[in-house]
Amino acid sequence: MKLNITCIPGDGIGPEIVAQAKKVLDKVAEVYGHEMEYKDVLMGGCSIDAYGVPLTQETIDAAKSADAVLMGSIGGNTSTSPWYKLEPSKRPEAGLLGIRKALNLFANLRPAYLYPQLSEACPLKEEAAAKGFDMLIMRELTGGLYFGERFTKEVDGEMVATDTLVYKESEIRRIAIKAFEVARKRRKSVISVDKANVLDSSRLWRKVVEEVAKDYPDVTLEHMLVDNCAMQLVREPSQFDVVLTENMFGDILSDEASMITGSIGMLPSASLNDTSFGLYEPSHGSAPDIAGKDIANPIATILSAAMMLRYSFNLDKEADSIENAVRKVLEDGFRTVDLMQTSKGEGFTQVGCKAMGDAIVERIVNL
Ligand code: IPM
Ligand code: MG
Repeated sequence: MKLNITCIPGDGIGPEIVAQAKKVLDKVAEVYGHEMEYKDVLMGGCSIDAYGVPLTQETIDAAKSADAVLMGSIGGNTSTSPWYKLEPSKRPEAGLLGIRKALNLFANLRPAYLYPQLSEACPLKEEAAAKGFDMLIMRELTGGLYFGERFTKEVDGEMVATDTLVYKESEIRRIAIKAFEVARKRRKSVISVDKANVLDSSRLWRKVVEEVAKDYPDVTLEHMLVDNCAMQLVREPSQFDVVLTENMFGDILSDEASMITGSIGMLPSASLNDTSFGLYEPSHGSAPDIAGKDIANPIATILSAAMMLRYSFNLDKEADSIENAVRKVLEDGFRTVDLMQTSKGEGFTQVGCKAMGDAIVERIVNL
């Protein structure tokens, strides 16, 4: 099969981690007899430097003409980078939000799984880590606070900033359907997270999710307030299967979920629309402080490439082979520095970004 992939390496550690994911994909292609065709385009800070804007029409077109997009990360140090002196709509993040919207990528899947090999690295109490967890955060990605009207103006002699949180029924319904569909293929449980004790948008969210649930009698639905969810994630993460939530809550909860897997460098993501097209990126940011040092953890990006094979190309065995190889490197004791810091005990080998990529490549086999 020929796989037509547009790559957006981006800023910071982005180019390093995408290079490792490509290496792994190339090995998969060799082992399973596929052909990879990559086209690299700019987005974020590097696009600002080259073209004055974080997202060009050329990048949108290149994404649209591919079967899938593999992304690294965008953005720089928000207090020192000149990109953050620009007006907000010209900053790197605006590129990412722009492409999500332009491609209608409303469903963001962020699986947080505690590899048994990393239970030592999990910062939770031993009992919680021993039980393990395997959840999928289904984050709404093109609505809510991120895309509502916002402005700052002077009112009665002081500055007032406004951000609006808007959700339409149709936006809630389509993401809820995605959550119930994926729950059916997992442990058949959806926990919908909102702030219905305060927000109108959350009350509508709850109502629509309950309507959708009627079409899925085999899946159980529970509602949880977001503050409680943040607490439950560190108390008893094993209770979660599919976590359905709006854009901003999903942003925050997915960082929390990634940290309890041992490192923020472990969490992949898929951003999907209603077709098989998707944009795949690690859930973490561009980590400008460690960029170019060959110490970043490429695993989240490599696992994002596995999600790409599964969701955009229906290549389940190939995706399994990547996930399997990741499990093996962890089993064999390879750790990038982020994982090394949290791994207690002996028998670990600290490796850089490239060496981690190589170790995973070596373990890709035809299953
Ligand atoms: C993420 C990131 C982005 C977001 C930023 C970079 C705009 O934090 O993908 O989680 O908030 O969605
Ligand atoms: Mg985030």
